Amino acid sequence: MYSKKVMEHFSNPRNVGEIEDADGVGEVGNPVCGDMMTIYIKVDDGKLTDVKFKTFGCGAAIATSSMITELAKGKTIEEALEISRDDVADSLDGLPPIKMHCSNLAADGLHAAIEDYQNKNKSK
Ligand code: FES
Repeated sequence: MYSKKVMEHFSNPRNVGEIEDADGVGEVGNPVCGDMMTIYIKVDDGKLTDVKFKTFGCGAAIATSSMITELAKGKTIEEALEISRDDVADSLDGLPPIKMHCSNLAADGLHAAIEDYQNKNKSK
């Protein structure tokens, strides 16, 4: 049912944890399954220098959050905003159709963290 990559990221998730002095934090939840995800970003000179996540959710949600931290790290804000829900699933060699909504959580969480960062910097 799951690709090897999904299993690998689920068993050995990258960038788990919290960034205490994060520049942006995105919290998203899926009302259907009740799973929750928080994405933390550090931004320096317009680039995401660090990305971490905390996920209370299913295996696919953990694998997709792990994958999105890898996709987003080192990218500029603009590039990171372009990472789509499909990109996350594609990078994991696909997800079972019933689990596609889990990858939405990861992309939405990253975008929410970037928005938070942008809002904070507007008010400065
Ligand atoms: Fe809820 Fe996967 S079942 S995010």
